[in-house]
Amino acid sequence: MRISIASDHGGFEQKEQLKAFLAREGHEVCDRGPASEGPVDYPDFAALVARDVAQESAERGVLVCGTGIGMAIAANKVAGARAASVATPEFAGLCREHNDANILCLSGRFVDLAANEAILGVFLHTEFSGGRHARRVQKIAALESAEQAKPSGE
Ligand code: RB5
Repeated sequence: MRISIASDHGGFEQKEQLKAFLAREGHEVCDRGPASEGPVDYPDFAALVARDVAQESAERGVLVCGTGIGMAIAANKVAGARAASVATPEFAGLCREHNDANILCLSGRFVDLAANEAILGVFLHTEFSGGRHARRVQKIAALESAEQAKPSGE
């Protein structure tokens, strides 16, 4: 699978380690940065990965910041991104099965590497369930289109 990955300074160290994990698992990894651990603004990197996924140049995205929360909030501003901030393998499975999440947002500060590898493994190996969940995901897309179509000032 082709996977786009990025972090901020709070997730840099684990981003580097998760890249190695993904390569060992046989995935093609596109590192969208940063290249060093200096302070950066997470929305800049969330946008790069979210656009890769929305434009289908990557099948899935992985974002790592201090908590995973800021990355998810930012990535979800890009149409077509369904980013989930996840701290347990159970939620990794459910965000795929129920929400067809295409971007996984991880905490580099509060979840250790072994746990994040387990979460990432579940995220990559779990299929979307479809059925009633497909209708709900379609409603998310419709909401996105309706918001974009609103005249400014409404
Ligand atoms: C950066 O200090 C921190 O705010 C960021 O990594 C992230 O946790 C935001 O959600």
